[in-house]
Amino acid sequence: MAPMMGYNEAPLRRICRRYGSGLAVTEMVKPEKLLRGDPNVLRDLEFADEERPLGVQIAVREEEELLPALELLAPRGFDFVDLNMGCPLKKECNKGWGAALLKDPAKVARLVAASVAAVDVPVTVKVRTGYELEERTAPEVVEGAIEAGAALVCVHGRTKMGWYREENDLSAIADVVAAARGRVPVIGNGDVVDLDTALAMFEQTGCDAVMIGRGAVGNPWVFREVDHYLRCGERLERPDFATVRELFEEHMEGVAEIFGERKGFRQVRRYAFYYFGRFGLDNAWRARAAQAKTRAELAPLLDEIERGQLSAAS
Ligand SMILES: Cc1cc2nc3c(=O)[nH]c(=O)nc-3n(C[C@H](O)[C@H](O)[C@H](O)COP(=O)(O)O)c2cc1C
Repeated sequence: MAPMMGYNEAPLRRICRRYGSGLAVTEMVKPEKLLRGDPNVLRDLEFADEERPLGVQIAVREEEELLPALELLAPRGFDFVDLNMGCPLKKECNKGWGAALLKDPAKVARLVAASVAAVDVPVTVKVRTGYELEERTAPEVVEGAIEAGAALVCVHGRTKMGWYREENDLSAIADVVAAARGRVPVIGNGDVVDLDTALAMFEQTGCDAVMIGRGAVGNPWVFREVDHYLRCGERLERPDFATVRELFEEHMEGVAEIFGERKGFRQVRRYAFYYFGRFGLDNAWRARAAQAKTRAELAPLLDEIERGQLSAAS
């Protein structure tokens, strides 16, 4: 399960784990927020054992910020630490965070070595294929990271400048797999949304695992679809409305427990469009759902879709 800022609540990670995700990572944490004890960050770092194996992802730039942050994270018991070297946001890259590191493989190696020395758990890295378009530094970055002790590498097949407009480049991911030379597992990432796109990622890159981000929003089922096929060679039917509704209710309930009823609902309401998008929502339904302020107000709207599904089936 990919780390995605704003789409990474602990209850959702728990559901995805149960549905076959083998590994999850928190969204990116900035060291300075951790060091000043930002209450939102501390709350977001809470997790339950059912989510394991779970890594914490940290933004990296220099040892001075990184090492004290790693020290604060250690007692929280994450299974691994993931260093973010792929965030494409201009405001982060301009200050040397995220994908900016892809311009400096030697620095990456240094930061990985420092992290490996500082923590007792594995250190992993998440990269894009490079910074500039057509300048794919990831193989060199990854080589240095592995030499420095990285235990696993995840690569999203786009450059920083390619943002999300550029096509996800499976051959660039294959180059990273080649650079790793089997020393550590490589996770392929980008545009995996279902079983077929997952299989294409495996086949065309030789990666050891796939990471799913946007395709899993409102669709935790995708992990079961892929996991079940890899284990049994069998394609599963997509879940029916009642199953999806149950998942969404569990997600909402878990988020309400953390954020409280109203705030929690504001946090999860937008997921409704993802969970139920394929059940024939029209714009009028969407507009009404966007007005709902509580789970109780949304419930009759979900009942409506359910009745529509039942009458379509009969
Ligand atoms: C809204 C959003 C937030 C994201 N936040 C993070 C993050 O905090 N850390 C990170 O490494 N990647 C982040 N990503 C990138 C994803 O983890 C993933 O690499 C990317 O979306 C490509 O995978 P996908 O096509 O399966 O979504 C984010 C992506 C999106 C769309």
